[in-house]
Amino acid sequence: MNILLTGGAGYIGSHTAVVLSQAGHEVVLLDNFCNSSPSVLERLQKILGKALPCVEADVRNTDAVERVLREYKIDAVIHFAGLKAVGESVANPVLYYANNVQGSISLLQAMQKVGVKTLVFSSSATVYGEPQYLPYDEDHPTKPMNPYGQSKLQTEKILRDLAISDADWKITSLRYFNPVGAHESGLIGEDPNGIPNNLMPYIAKVASGELPHLNIFGDDYETRDGTGERDYIHVMDLAEGHEAAISYLENCCRGFEVINLGTGKSVSVLELISAYEEVIGCKIKKFITKKRPGDLPVYYAQANKAKKLLNWIAIRSVGDICETTQRFSAAKIIA
Ligand code: NAD
Ligand code: UD1
Repeated sequence: MNILLTGGAGYIGSHTAVVLSQAGHEVVLLDNFCNSSPSVLERLQKILGKALPCVEADVRNTDAVERVLREYKIDAVIHFAGLKAVGESVANPVLYYANNVQGSISLLQAMQKVGVKTLVFSSSATVYGEPQYLPYDEDHPTKPMNPYGQSKLQTEKILRDLAISDADWKITSLRYFNPVGAHESGLIGEDPNGIPNNLMPYIAKVASGELPHLNIFGDDYETRDGTGERDYIHVMDLAEGHEAAISYLENCCRGFEVINLGTGKSVSVLELISAYEEVIGCKIKKFITKKRPGDLPVYYAQANKAKKLLNWIAIRSVGDICETTQRFSAAKIIA
């Protein structure tokens, strides 16, 4: 298939581009590089042995997206393009609704004009909010706790209405849990600017000496060891989940479907640190500090629906996650 990846130069998009291209799909990237760099294209070329077409454009530019859909005879779109920093979304909600909701509407308008009606959407487990029960299954009530989560839920609602209005649409919304890790080559991975908000990139920066120590946000939660537990999913497993979703849409699905992509298991902050320490062979400097406001003690996915519908499960271990993160982090320092 000819597949357009909006936000394809970003962390999850670039790994998915590798998996789809290696599976024989023709992949086209569209990105405005607001949170990525064109240098990822050279690294993708090294991994794939060929260049992928990439159009620099904002997804809110409906005409530009329409031109790309026509020029590359696109059959399906995976919509990664979006902003994802929770704190920033609280400080600047309009930016988030404009980029994430308006961006999705613009994409849908272009797709409607051209008659491309197959879509995979990047959603997030953050749409569930405070757990009523765990693991979160796809029927769990949704109550996002911040504008970022709201922007994902509102987009899902638009997609659901669209699929009801026109039976030709095939749409899957994938609710990711905590994507981490990097491609085994160490050439692509997650590289946030400045001080990371998320645990895994923070650990990597402490391990490489870029940051002096890690703050563990609370150790008196009602969890296995008192620290927060999350469902960390290797980004290559996640990328393969997108390939499975594309096959599913191609072969069987009609309408709108929401599917969790997670491992179904939780890992604590201390467990993740200790797995990383094992990979690097030394201790990571860390302090217990106060809880981060808005953090949930524990959440993880019920992953059965993905297994049943997509014939997909996450296969990589926490050790694989730490090893590939470290390889990417070390390669970056040498480069
Ligand atoms: P990322 O920031 O690395 O990638 C997003 C890409 O989209 C970037 O390359 C950015 O430049 C581009 N982009 C943003 N707005 C755009 C616009 N208006 N027009 C064109 N390009 C635009 O983030 P990621 O981690 O790869 O996330 C991809 C998607 O998955 C996002 O929609 C995010 O909300 C969602 N998601 C991510 C996580 C996570 O933890 N990484 C978890 C759940 C959901
Ligand atoms: C965060 C986002 C969530 C998003 C997810 C994607 C917030 C409030 N939530 O969730 O919307 O979908 O990333 O990956 O930002 N921790 C530390 N020290 C740190 C950083 C984190 O102890 O320096 C702990 C946290 O308290 C938490 C765990 O590590 O228990 C994971 O944190 P993080 O990586 O930020 O992910 P989430 O909180 O799940």
